[in-house]
Amino acid sequence: MRDIEMGVTTHYASYDVLARIRAALGEMGHDPDRISPDVLKPVDEFHIGGAEATAALLEKLDIRPDMEVLDIGSGVGGPARMIAGRYGCRVTGVDLTPHFVETARAPSAMCGLADRVRFEVGSVALPLPDASYDLALLLHVGMNVPDKAALFREARRVLRDGGTFAVYEVMQTGDGDLAFPVPWAETPELSALETPQTYRAKAQAAGFALEAEENRREVALDFFSRLQAQAASGASPPLGLHNLMGPTVKEKVANMIAAVRAGTIAPIEMIFSTVRH
Ligand SMILES: C[S@@+](CC[C@H](N)C(=O)[O-])C[C@H]1O[C@@H](n2cnc3c(N)ncnc32)[C@H](O)[C@@H]1O
Repeated sequence: MRDIEMGVTTHYASYDVLARIRAALGEMGHDPDRISPDVLKPVDEFHIGGAEATAALLEKLDIRPDMEVLDIGSGVGGPARMIAGRYGCRVTGVDLTPHFVETARAPSAMCGLADRVRFEVGSVALPLPDASYDLALLLHVGMNVPDKAALFREARRVLRDGGTFAVYEVMQTGDGDLAFPVPWAETPELSALETPQTYRAKAQAAGFALEAEENRREVALDFFSRLQAQAASGASPPLGLHNLMGPTVKEKVANMIAAVRAGTIAPIEMIFSTVRH
């Protein structure tokens, strides 16, 4: 494993996430062994905009029940469960952090989706056969992956001709400095932000054509305002992304919001189609 990969797994695995989720569910009066996937949405969508952002991206894709879908960097599994639950597809999630993979598996069984969703430990050197997926997703993962060329090359390898790669990533959009920690990195060594130009260029080199692109800055600012209003009212619910981010959660979120407001970073969607080999 590369140094950055070891650092990233440690960064995401430091807190006992599954125990925290189970305790929060109990506090909310749920039986943690029998829940609907929607109950987990405040905690299992680890990216700017949460479940709303995933749903908005999925609506732009033509997803059919017979598709094989891959979620690269699947975290604790919310996006994979949303796709399987709403569209009936079979979904594979691959993630570097074993603790997140274990955490992702348990709720899928709790929601009755275990037969359609599976999670494997792996890096962007994907442990998967060639041309085996119709749709791949990458949601807030590339910020931890310095080798974007390998990331796109691997996504192209496992996608069939006619496949789609949907990317929703925090990208570098301005020159300002980023203060650390941020949700994806405690220190600068774990952060591998790139510009939209780099993402487009690496994708094109790997055999993708850009079909659509949208800067989601305004949606993010609206999401942050709602989060901050909730925090100011003292009404933070037991289940939320704070369960995933440990003791420095406030600094991480504040630094990220400041950088989005300053225009240094922005969450950007890119939808690519495969170019025939
Ligand atoms: C901010 S979380 C996003 C999780 C998920 N995509 C979501 O949106 O809910 C980033 C995830 O990327 C994973 N990750 C980071 N580097 C990776 C790599 N090289 N290969 C696979 N997963 C990686 C981390 O383990 C973590 O689960």
